[in-house]
Amino acid sequence: MVTWKGRLGPFDLRVAPGTFRPSTISTMVAESMEVGDSDVVIDMGCGSGVLSIIAAKLGANVVHGVDAEQETIEIATANAAAQGVEDRTVFYQGDMFEPLPEGLEADVLIGDVSGIPDDVAEATGWFPSGLSGGPSGAELPLRMLEQARDFMRKGGKVFLPTGSLQDEASIIDAARDMFGKIRQLTERRIPLPSTVSENPAIIKMAQDKIIDITQRGSRMIWTARVWEATA
Ligand SMILES: C[S@@+](CC[C@H](N)C(=O)[O-])C[C@H]1O[C@@H](n2cnc3c(N)ncnc32)[C@H](O)[C@@H]1O
Repeated sequence: MVTWKGRLGPFDLRVAPGTFRPSTISTMVAESMEVGDSDVVIDMGCGSGVLSIIAAKLGANVVHGVDAEQETIEIATANAAAQGVEDRTVFYQGDMFEPLPEGLEADVLIGDVSGIPDDVAEATGWFPSGLSGGPSGAELPLRMLEQARDFMRKGGKVFLPTGSLQDEASIIDAARDMFGKIRQLTERRIPLPSTVSENPAIIKMAQDKIIDITQRGSRMIWTARVWEATA
């Protein structure tokens, strides 16, 4: 069990060993997202279901949460029931948009799929193997953005976290190309544990300018951002 202390919290969430535990990025996305009454929401990479639950509590008509982790879907369903939003949430196991009903059009897409480079994921243990963001951390978010347009209502909003611990520029450029209108909603500098910043794979990615970590005093810092793209 973990306690969510972000927007609309505190509330408890069940997590299984393979479930992503809500992070600083989850808190930032939760604070940034706008959900209107009767909106249809897709929560891509829903994990424990925390952002789906918040979207439902903010008034969404229905939230479709998807995650690749089988156990996570059972967990998200149980968490939504414990928060009294089981009538407005439905969770699917699968890859990206593949399990969603045909013809579904969303007003809001929460696009929080894994965006951590595979080597960083391995060094940090932040993601189980096979569920991280690809070699540069941009591959999975880019695949999500490419598929997203087919599932968005015109004028719908995508809430998209990015960070300097991935090839962030590729994601922002692609979002701009695909959606035209994007704007940054928030930004936070986050210390990187020394076990991670001293990892040879991470030092190499920083030298190759794939990721951007900066020194502040004795600590290394990375930057997380949340963007809004309008379909
Ligand atoms: C950064 S976590 C976010 C979880 C949740 N939104 C939160 O804030 O706690 C990303 C999630 O994406 C899921 N994921 C990874 N690859 C996926 C894919 N191909 N399709 C769907 N979900 C995926 C992971 O299992 C993980 O739960």
